[in-house]
Amino acid sequence: MRVYIRPPRPADERPYSEAVVRSTDHLSPWNPVEPDGFPDLLRRQGPALRTFMIFNEEDDGLVGRVNVANIVRARFRNGALGYDSYVPYAGTGRMSEGLRLVVDRCFRSGPDGLGLHRLEINVQPENERSLAMAKRLGFRHEGFSPRMLFINNAWRDHERFALTVEEWPGI
Ligand SMILES: CC(C)(COP(=O)(O)OP(=O)(O)OC[C@H]1O[C@@H](n2cnc3c(N)ncnc32)[C@H](O)[C@@H]1OP(=O)(O)O)[C@@H](O)C(=O)NCCC(=O)NCCS
Repeated sequence: MRVYIRPPRPADERPYSEAVVRSTDHLSPWNPVEPDGFPDLLRRQGPALRTFMIFNEEDDGLVGRVNVANIVRARFRNGALGYDSYVPYAGTGRMSEGLRLVVDRCFRSGPDGLGLHRLEINVQPENERSLAMAKRLGFRHEGFSPRMLFINNAWRDHERFALTVEEWPGI
């Protein structure tokens, strides 16, 4: 493993902000670029949102950030993954490794896990790197959701991928 994951801490604010600024060109076509958004992200952590930071084992640099959002319990036990990788680690395979650790944590029960049963990934049809990521992780294509999310000033169509714990090896 070249990466490790953990929840965000206040001390991550500066590395996060710098990583987002460094990665603006790579993020901006697909996700909001919010270098000052870290305090808000920390404040929003709770039953419906859990964030995991992915770090590079060798130098503790910030590889990426994964939000497990829209967490619903009861009979659904579902969450939606949203993710960004950061320069200089983007494209090195580390984000895929980190996301596998996050999926594992989401499906695991007990004190370390979120105990979820189903995860979704929603991707704009033109976002080839993210489509490749969803498929690489083994997510199933479930369908097409027109005008699903408001991103970059417009309601964007999304391809919907999902995975349930029964499909995830080792749990
Ligand atoms: C989508 C996104 C998170 C993908 O992250 P990434 O940094 O490219 O992820 P990885 O490096 O793990 O991707 C694996 C790629 O690295 C390559 N790679 C390079 N070295 C590798 C190694 N040692 N091991 C495995 N893969 C390696 C893989 O072949 C793969 O390339 P390919 O997709 O061209 O075939 C990133 O592009 C991003 O942040 N995009 C902007 C925001 C965004 O779109 N978020 C998602 C919205 S739904």
